[in-house]
Amino acid sequence: ELGRFRHYMQKEIFEQPDALANTLELVGAAKSVQPGLFGAEAETVLRDIDSVLILACGTSYHSGLAARYWLEEVAGVPCTVEIASEYRYRTSVPNPRQLVVAISQSGETADTLAALKHAKGLGQPHTLALCNVPESAIVRECALRFITRAGPEIGVASTKAFTTQLAALYLLTLAVAKLKGRLSAEDEAREIDALRHLPAAVSAVLEQEPAIQAWAEHFADKRHALFLGRGIHYPIALEGALKLKEISYIHAEAYPAGELKHGPLALVDREMPVIAVAPNDALLEKLKSNLQEVRARGGELYVFADAKVDLGTGDADGVHLIQLPEHYGKLSPVLHVVPLQLLAYHAALVKGTDVDKPRNLAKSVTVE
Ligand code: F6R
Repeated sequence: ELGRFRHYMQKEIFEQPDALANTLELVGAAKSVQPGLFGAEAETVLRDIDSVLILACGTSYHSGLAARYWLEEVAGVPCTVEIASEYRYRTSVPNPRQLVVAISQSGETADTLAALKHAKGLGQPHTLALCNVPESAIVRECALRFITRAGPEIGVASTKAFTTQLAALYLLTLAVAKLKGRLSAEDEAREIDALRHLPAAVSAVLEQEPAIQAWAEHFADKRHALFLGRGIHYPIALEGALKLKEISYIHAEAYPAGELKHGPLALVDREMPVIAVAPNDALLEKLKSNLQEVRARGGELYVFADAKVDLGTGDADGVHLIQLPEHYGKLSPVLHVVPLQLLAYHAALVKGTDVDKPRNLAKSVTVE
C-alpha cells in the first residue's frame, strides 16, 4: 500500500497535488466559484454575514489562522479564529450574523464539536463544516458544509488535510468576496486559474526533497528550534513547528519574526536552529532585517525563500537557503508549508522515531 514510500506521512505529503486537484474538481470547469459548493442555502447566508468565527484544533486551527488573512484582505469580512477547547469554556458575545466555521479533518474532534454546539446554543445560527470526512459528527451538526477530498489520512501528523483545507478556505473567501461585490469576474477567473495551477506548483516544491533531507541531518542532535514567519506565513511557521515537535520530539516554537526582539531573541545561540519562511512578498525586507538580528547572535539560519530572493549571504555565514520554484502570491502559504512538512519528516527519520504513530498522540481526538 505504501508503494515507494516508507511511511504514510511521506506518502500523504506526496499525495498533496492529487488531493488538491481532487478537491478543486468540485469547482468544475467554471471560471467562477458557485456559492452552492458550500450548500443549498450558502448563497443567502454568505451574502448576509457580517463576520466569520473559525473554531478548530491543532493543524486545522492553523489553516483557520491563515484563512483570516484572506477573508479580511480579499473578502473584507472581519474574522476571528479560536482554539475550540478555549472557546467552548469562555463567555463570548454571540453575533447572529456571524458565520461559524468548524474546521476538522476527522469531523469527530470532541472539542471542535462541543465548541460548535456551544456557538449554536449561544444563538449563532449560521454554521459551516469544513471536513475531510462526509457524514462525520461535525458535518451533521452544520447547516452548510464543504467536504475536502484529501482521501483517508492515516499518518497522525496531518499534511494533505491541511493543504486541502487551505484550498477550501480560499474558495470560501472567493465566494464571500463575490457575494459582497468585491471580486470582478476577471479577477475571479484569474484566482480560479491560480488555484488550478496549485497541484503542479506543489509537485515542483516536492522535487526539493533531497535538499531538505540534507538539512534534516543538522537537526537530529538539536533540542530546540525556532520557526519564523510574517503575515499569512506566520500560521505556516506555527504549522512547521507543530509538525517538527509532534514527530521528531524536538521542541519547536514559532514566532512572527517582528516579535523576536520582544523576548525569543534571548534564546538564540549556535545550538538553536532558526527556520524562516521567507516568501517574496511585501514583508520580505522586514523579515531580512529580523534574520540579521538572528545572525548577529550566532544563530544558524535555514531559510525557505522564493526564486529570486537574494539574502546576500551564504552557507559560510551560517545561512542555508532553499529556494522554492516561484512566488505564488496569495496562495503562497499552500506551497510554503510543504518543505516544512518534509523537514519534520526527515528530521524524525534521522532520529528514528515512529513517524506515523508519534508517542502519546491519537489520530482522532474524540475525548476532551
Ligand atoms: C497535527 C494534528 C492535530 C489535529 C487536531 C485536530 O498534525 O493532526 O493537531 O490537527 O487534533 O484534528 P481534526 O482536524 O481531525 O479536528
